[in-house]
Amino acid sequence: MSEATGKKAVLELDGKKIELPIYSGTLGPDVIDVKDVLASGHFTFDPGFMATASCESKITFIDGDKGILLHRGYPIDQLATQASYLETCYLLLSGELPTAEQKTDFENKVRNHTMVHDQVSRFFNGFRRDAHPMAVMCGVVGALSAFYHNGFDVENVDHREITAVRLVAKIPTLAAWTYKYTIGQPFVYPRNDLSYAENFLYMMFATPADRDYKVNPILAKAMDRIFTLHADHEQNASTSTVRLAGSTGANPYACIAAGIAALWGPAHGGANEAVLKMLDEIGSVENVAPFMEKVKTKEVKLMGFGHRVYKNFDPRAKVMKETCDEVLSALGINDPQLELAMELERIALSDPYFIERKLYPNVDFYSGIILKAIGIPTEMFTVIFALARTVGWISHWLEMHSGPYKIGRPRQLYTGSTQRDIKR
Ligand code: CMC
Repeated sequence: MSEATGKKAVLELDGKKIELPIYSGTLGPDVIDVKDVLASGHFTFDPGFMATASCESKITFIDGDKGILLHRGYPIDQLATQASYLETCYLLLSGELPTAEQKTDFENKVRNHTMVHDQVSRFFNGFRRDAHPMAVMCGVVGALSAFYHNGFDVENVDHREITAVRLVAKIPTLAAWTYKYTIGQPFVYPRNDLSYAENFLYMMFATPADRDYKVNPILAKAMDRIFTLHADHEQNASTSTVRLAGSTGANPYACIAAGIAALWGPAHGGANEAVLKMLDEIGSVENVAPFMEKVKTKEVKLMGFGHRVYKNFDPRAKVMKETCDEVLSALGINDPQLELAMELERIALSDPYFIERKLYPNVDFYSGIILKAIGIPTEMFTVIFALARTVGWISHWLEMHSGPYKIGRPRQLYTGSTQRDIKR
């Protein structure tokens, strides 16, 4: 539990004083408990949750001004460079990094659940082949709820834990099959002798015709790091969606599908796809200056820039940029889009419009370029984000269900018609 600081905020309303308790966490701003405002006949008003802490959490901490991102206390750059994605998953889910024995045990558990029920494969056929992969993901992940509903008890710790393992294990299979479906290739089944990232790349790019397909270890390492950098991010739009859906006691697979839907938008996870589309539209370095003019007159947004919380730099973007350089040089890729991206970044970082508004490159500015180098098509970028973020979503769902919680039910400032009668 958070600690009462003994300090109180006092709100004066219609001549009456309401004392509001203030609580401290371990890091970050104190919070004012506004529950008692309700008794005065008022609601608090904060569209976009700019100043609202919606829950207590021990999973992830962000200091947007200092560019700090910690998972269970560990800085993201240390996790990205010194831990694997599955170790990070274990950390997010359980609170601690695994010992060697716990690591092996967790990896084996995940391996045990990489397959999906064969009936799940039939769901894909209902989609058009040109469906957006995120639409397919919303559908097939939501469909898992039909396979794990009877007998599921949200109050049962074992049921909750196996749900988390199943989701981490099956999401790469569904993501890779989504890709295979949209390009008309047969599904490739998981191979449990491969690491998590290798297995994903194998299911994405192997075909029955190429039995000896080998995953490039440089790409597997980069993929693993991309997964780690996207694993969790506090109470963002999709995580809050998962918590809100979960607060009704809904099936967890359906809650994750809700998270996938929230992630899809270009203001959130869809930004990585939007960055590459933007670079395509700009075309070449000489078009950067006129494009920037359009950004400043607010005709378009510079995708991959800006963040609700980070107002200095996005620590994920720093590691992502380093990974991007490593991958491109290891593969000997000289991508003109990278040159374009660097020019955009250079201009944006020195332009008063961006400086005044504290707009910096976010994780999605660089991730698209690496994903492209790995051979992932643009429309799959947000799917990769969803794959990696599934562990964050389910960690928050687990945290919510392992303590007391209330159904999420915001109120509103009603500005519609007052009561009136139908006159006929
Ligand atoms: N390009 C140009 N101007 C921008 C941008 C941008 N990308 N982002 C914000 N601004 C301007 C905005 O127009 C506003 O200007 P003014 O004060 O003159 O009205 C000011 O900066 C503040 O912006 P805001 O919209 O109030 O900020 P927000 O916190 O509500 O939005 C954001 C944050 C991420 C939605 C927004 O910066 C954005 O749309 N960025 C582009 C999309 C993107 O890259 N999203 C990925 C976020 S990181 C991955 C993830 O966690 O999902």
